[in-house]
Amino acid sequence: MDNTSCLMVIFGGTGDLTKRKLLPAIYNLYVEGLLPDNFATVAVGRKAYTHEEYRMIARESVMNFSRNGMNEDKWSALSERIYYEKVEFHDPAAYVSLKNFLNELDKRYQTKGNRVYYLAVAPEYFEVIAEQLHDHKMAENNGAWQRVVIEKPFGRDLRSAEYLNQKLSQVFDESHIYRIDHYLGKEMLQNIMVIRFANGLFEPIWNNRYIDNVQISIDETVGVENRGNYYEKAGALRDMVQSHMLQLLSLVAMEPPIDLSTDAIRDEKVKVLRSLRPITRETVSSSVVRGQYGRGTIDGKPVVAYREEERVSPDSDTETFVALKTYVDNFRWAGVPFYLRTGKRLADRSAKIVIQFKQLPGILYFKEYGPLEPNLLVIWIQPREGVYLQFNAKKPGQKYNIVPVQMDFCQNCSLYNNSPEAYERLLYDVMRGDSTLFTRWDEVEYSWRFVDSIVNAWKDGKDTIEVYEAGTWGPTGANELLKKDGFEWWNIT
Ligand code: BG6
Repeated sequence: MDNTSCLMVIFGGTGDLTKRKLLPAIYNLYVEGLLPDNFATVAVGRKAYTHEEYRMIARESVMNFSRNGMNEDKWSALSERIYYEKVEFHDPAAYVSLKNFLNELDKRYQTKGNRVYYLAVAPEYFEVIAEQLHDHKMAENNGAWQRVVIEKPFGRDLRSAEYLNQKLSQVFDESHIYRIDHYLGKEMLQNIMVIRFANGLFEPIWNNRYIDNVQISIDETVGVENRGNYYEKAGALRDMVQSHMLQLLSLVAMEPPIDLSTDAIRDEKVKVLRSLRPITRETVSSSVVRGQYGRGTIDGKPVVAYREEERVSPDSDTETFVALKTYVDNFRWAGVPFYLRTGKRLADRSAKIVIQFKQLPGILYFKEYGPLEPNLLVIWIQPREGVYLQFNAKKPGQKYNIVPVQMDFCQNCSLYNNSPEAYERLLYDVMRGDSTLFTRWDEVEYSWRFVDSIVNAWKDGKDTIEVYEAGTWGPTGANELLKKDGFEWWNIT
């Protein structure tokens, strides 16, 4: 029986995430016929708006950010189901009116008391909102379901994450807590397991006998934008590595799960995170590079240095770039370095995984015409989505010229392809009660353990931060990190 009917209650209804991602995602799900018939959205925020005023704001955000453009008929049908409620997050009285309003909508839309509470708010409000929902018996699960969606950051270290988790667990069962890592909603992340486990070609060679190193990079050209406040306390390590980068790594390195159920997949991902070799005081300087962007040029335009950005301290030593080397200490991956790199204000925007295969013995062509390029498998995540395989072939002609050639599958290059946004998939899954693309508590826990090992090693104070020019590939130290192992970053675009 379909049990997806629900009210989607978005705390932080006037925030950036709601405008840029959530409202357009709801609209696109509606256009694609993927919203339940019995559905309404209530945006909750601290500003005072009427429903009509809020619908104008929502309309604007769909116009600006929807991948499907704007269809006026569809919008007017959907917008009637969008409401706004003013709530001061600490004010118990506000929850009384919110509850009454939601109950009234339940009747109007026959949503049966099912709720998605989406906390698109600053992390300091997670706890108080959960407590208020509890105190007002708005998360009781009496014959209905109530799920909570938590945006990152889930804590800022293991201790704070544990505390938050404990608070949430007092209100919601683990199976009703949806911790968002929006990268998991991206098409190509869902494709990694398919590429690995639906092809006889890759799985047999997916191990330390054939793979030389793995490079995972999420490079951005944007700066810190208007998020200086948050970013100063986070930095690239907490902002990107703890979440997106380690999720990518676990999908690349996991063992085949026993089946495709949510927990079987998460069990295997957790094993990878548990096998990560922690960084120590002794290894930090040779395995981790921190950088911060200085002034430079992006797309031909001059940009300011990180320290000159709004709400950033002029002597900040927060990293906007981090590159690191780690190992997955299990039988499959023993000895294979995993290099991670992420940064803001870099030369190009791209997220990808590069698997570099080992060379063949130095005889035959390798002896006569070497050194030859290694075989590479690239999984493009964005902006291009696809898979690219590089191998060696003879260049036509009388002479033996051996050159690297590429087989390139691009799934979003055609004009007709319009991949759903990550948030569409994730919202859809929350309504269906499928948490496979969300992180389970132990995934968060082991990611923080790894990240904390780096933060603690940094605390020692011996590490340095290298300023890099905006619009380049980051600090030179990041190249050295690979060079000393005989490798280089593959900045294939
Ligand atoms: C967010 C980070 O989680 O991911 C941002 O907080 C980052 O700093 C963003 O810019 C990148 O996401 P995407 O989908 O644009 O690659």
